[in-house]
Amino acid sequence: MSQSDVKIVEVGPRDGLQNEAVKVSVADRIRLIDMLGLAGLTAIESGAFVSPKWVPQMADTDQVLAGITRRPGVTYPVLVPNMKGMDAALTCDIDEIAVFGAASETFSQRNINCSIAESLARFAPVIQAATARNIRVRGYISCVLGCPYEGKVAPGAVMQVATTLREMGCYEISLGDTIGVGTAFAARDMLRMVASEIPMAVLAVHFHDTYGQALANILACLEAGVRVIDSAVAGLGGCPYAKGASGNVATEDLLYMLAGIGCTTGIDTDKVIAAGQFISASLGRKPQSKLAAAYASS
Ligand code: HMG
Ligand code: MG
Repeated sequence: MSQSDVKIVEVGPRDGLQNEAVKVSVADRIRLIDMLGLAGLTAIESGAFVSPKWVPQMADTDQVLAGITRRPGVTYPVLVPNMKGMDAALTCDIDEIAVFGAASETFSQRNINCSIAESLARFAPVIQAATARNIRVRGYISCVLGCPYEGKVAPGAVMQVATTLREMGCYEISLGDTIGVGTAFAARDMLRMVASEIPMAVLAVHFHDTYGQALANILACLEAGVRVIDSAVAGLGGCPYAKGASGNVATEDLLYMLAGIGCTTGIDTDKVIAAGQFISASLGRKPQSKLAAAYASS
């Protein structure tokens, strides 16, 4: 596998912090993003323009975006669910946004208070407004391998939403195992099915590690051809509307696996570990990364 082929999308400052009981200060969110940029990550999800009543942890994303030190070649995407969020995002310096839908109707209702079809209709003007300003749009699909309310999710349902998001103009589509129930072959088969309709190069995988399956799933998907992987420093994360969902795969552990299979990324693992230690201290707990624990005990 060629080393420059894998792109990591760091989602800790958004997917991670949105689910923490402790509300991290704007200053610490800025410092985390800057530390991750210094470590060499090139896509750092930095916040969300969602309702502060629904997700208070992501309030003041505008202040975060105003405070970070932007590095050349690094993008700082933010989540945008509707035009209200887009209007707020457009008052900031944004280079990329992400819309987020689901493959499960009940999850869509619980997460963004509308059906899948309604969500896609809400995304249309958001994507148009972004595209008109040369702002790239990523599309997320949640619950691609299981839903906390509906159980098993059919790969065909994932494929349908993915195809629509692609047709609407998303340059990349991230397939999210929101509650981390997937296992390697199911993840690989779901990816292959989606890739039968959409080029693999457009797809990303996003695994939460609830049942310790994230790295195995990622490896199976790498072997199937995916080259974009979402992860969160210190294994931060979860989803406020998916009870029991634990953090994303830890960026540190992903880097260790990628290096081990001959796929280096140019990212400084020690600096990612330092960023994980910093944010974990801010949250008052230890990093949820195996690598950080191994380093601490060596
Ligand atoms: P709603 O209540 O249906 O919206 O929420 P509404 O249009 O009826 O408006 C109700 C109130 O919300 C109004 O305020 C609006 O102004 C306000 P009020 O008059 O009551 O004071 N409002 C907003 N405020 C700020 N920003 C906005 C906005 N829109 C309306 N953009 C909404 C709809 C989507 C806003 C709401 O459901 C929400 O914010 N949900 C949070 C969703 C979220 O952030 N979930 C976590 C991210 S998804 C995820 O983690 C999964 C992922 O990681 C992939 C994976 O793991 O699978 C991506
Ligand atoms: Mg997630």
